[in-house]
Amino acid sequence: MLQDERVPEADELDPAAMRVHYRSQGLAEADLAPDPYEQFRRWFAQAATGGLYEPNAMVVSTADAAGRPSSRTVLLKGYDERGFVFYTNYTSRKARELGENPHVSLLFPWHSIARQVIVTGTADRVGRDETAAYFRSRPYGSQLGAWASDQSATVAGRAQLDDSYAELAARYPEGEPVPVPPGWGGFRVRAESVEFWQGRENRLHDRLRYVREGGRGAAAEGWRVERLWP
Ligand SMILES: Cc1cc2nc3c(=O)[nH]c(=O)nc-3n(C[C@H](O)[C@H](O)[C@H](O)COP(=O)(O)O)c2cc1C
Repeated sequence: MLQDERVPEADELDPAAMRVHYRSQGLAEADLAPDPYEQFRRWFAQAATGGLYEPNAMVVSTADAAGRPSSRTVLLKGYDERGFVFYTNYTSRKARELGENPHVSLLFPWHSIARQVIVTGTADRVGRDETAAYFRSRPYGSQLGAWASDQSATVAGRAQLDDSYAELAARYPEGEPVPVPPGWGGFRVRAESVEFWQGRENRLHDRLRYVREGGRGAAAEGWRVERLWP
């Protein structure tokens, strides 16, 4: 949330002069969990209990068939050994791009604790039952919002958006079940690599990356861990 409306002077905002001293506590190979999901669970728990605002906010980057990238923030809504799940409109730009090119990157920017996690992988739609179960857990207003938005298309004005919401509120009164919008649902990103970045002093950061080895199927899967130069 913005603290005040004052616009800082340009010399207060010179990005070249912005430096923070990162925590010296590191991330060592010996401390890593056997798989990236458990390691993510540990770091996510620390981010969530460490006072971070929306620790489940992640930057999702996609690319179209021609390789042109695009990024946006979405909220992580679940993760396990099958992958990382978010929900969105299936008509949105990101969904269209994932239809053309399933390769995706997720980035968790946990700046205030000098950490970031970067996942690369491929995205598939989650099953309709899973989407429906999550949709039903959302507040009424968010359920209507999912219906109201033709996400990523141009809209004539704010009034069109508000009118769309009002029409839906009349069609689906509060207290009655709202059907799941057919053009809305989840994506699950199956990880191919997961990098855990821990800021350290003098820019000697720790970067440990799990890389998937083997094919699909739990028995065949394993993870190699490699350390990257910072
Ligand atoms: C903190 C934050 C959380 C967001 N969470 C979601 C989300 O979970 N799902 C979603 O579709 N859009 C979410 N958005 C909006 C997206 O950033 C984006 O504007 C929208 O999905 C359309 O993206 P696209 O046109 O690239 O497909 C969020 C934005 C912010 C800033």
